[in-house]
Amino acid sequence: MARGDSALEALGGRLAATRRLTLDLAAPLSDADATIQPHPDASPAKWHLAHTTWFFETFILRDHVPGYELYDESWPFLFNSYYEGEGERHARPRRGMLSRPTLDEVRGWRATVDEALQSALPNLPPETLKLVELGIQHEQQHQELFLTDILATFAENPLEPPYGLADISRDAAEPLGWIAGRSGLVEIGAGSGFAFDCERPRHQALLHPHRIASRCVTNGEWQEFTADGGYSTPALWLSEGWDWVQSEQVERPLYWHDDGTHFTLGGRREIDPAAPVAHISYYEADAFARWAGARLPTEAEWEDAFASSDPTIGHQLDRAGSVEPKPGGGPFGDVWQWTQSAFLPYPGFKPEAGTVGEYNGKFMCGQFVLKGASCATPRGHSRASYRNFFPPSARWQFTGVRLARDS
Ligand SMILES: [Fe+2]
Repeated sequence: MARGDSALEALGGRLAATRRLTLDLAAPLSDADATIQPHPDASPAKWHLAHTTWFFETFILRDHVPGYELYDESWPFLFNSYYEGEGERHARPRRGMLSRPTLDEVRGWRATVDEALQSALPNLPPETLKLVELGIQHEQQHQELFLTDILATFAENPLEPPYGLADISRDAAEPLGWIAGRSGLVEIGAGSGFAFDCERPRHQALLHPHRIASRCVTNGEWQEFTADGGYSTPALWLSEGWDWVQSEQVERPLYWHDDGTHFTLGGRREIDPAAPVAHISYYEADAFARWAGARLPTEAEWEDAFASSDPTIGHQLDRAGSVEPKPGGGPFGDVWQWTQSAFLPYPGFKPEAGTVGEYNGKFMCGQFVLKGASCATPRGHSRASYRNFFPPSARWQFTGVRLARDS
């Protein structure tokens, strides 16, 4: 077999496995579960199934497979997320109003698109195969969003239905250590291999003397912060963060209740003090760091510290089911870690050509970078140069904090 054939076979295999995992994630859901939208930032599960299919149908099949006819000409309007180059689209906050197409109809679309993709693969030129890779990586991102959005959906229901069996760990928290970071000029950003456009080009960054925590902040440490009046001490908060705490009446991480329990994908559970805290905003992470006499790391500090750690090790998503941050993980897994770095273009940044150039670059305003991976990140998706990003008030993702200090 020629080298090109085995690479193509591997790509086809990863495409099939990725598409399969999304279906498996949706398997426990009713059409109603998959249709409702808990808040404007989250999307219905059915929408994720459809939108990832739209991405492949539009940017591969429609654009690069002669004679391909759209499965349904009216659906691209419903399932384009934010690509202005693809024209008008359904309003994001109203995605939960789409009772049609049904979940089964969306599954039918997926099957047709999957079949067309697999038969087109051998004839696609290398540039288009790169778009297939982008489609796989895109779908993996939506698998994580699928889980965080279904958590938000079930959290809205007073019956508190579990999405899956509880993923229980009884490990103790590791002792907190401080790793001496390098200082001086280092290089960050993606080298060879797949990376999103925003991770390039690789470039120099200047690090000042610092230390970075050996693990993330735990629920137990967060309970100390809460008991010490962390949420009612304005001096700990950024001005914008304090306004947010007041206006949203925030007293604890999202999904925490005042009786020592929290809502998880496995249903309502006791909070495990040894597990990494999750579902906190940038504002909360920053206030906690100030309370602890520390600060958030910069993205360059984080990336340099963990550039040689294996990004495939840790508590990440391996199969469909309930996930939860657990003690004992490494830098990749459990929770994405807020950095103090704004999501901005690297020196010499060039967006991808064409409409997919809207993927990252146009969001480089008002968002902060998170590093690592979470328990909902498909294993193999992340790497040290990965730049996840969210606005500072977002906390429905598995977001946590790893502290840093000047030294
Ligand atoms: Fe998307």
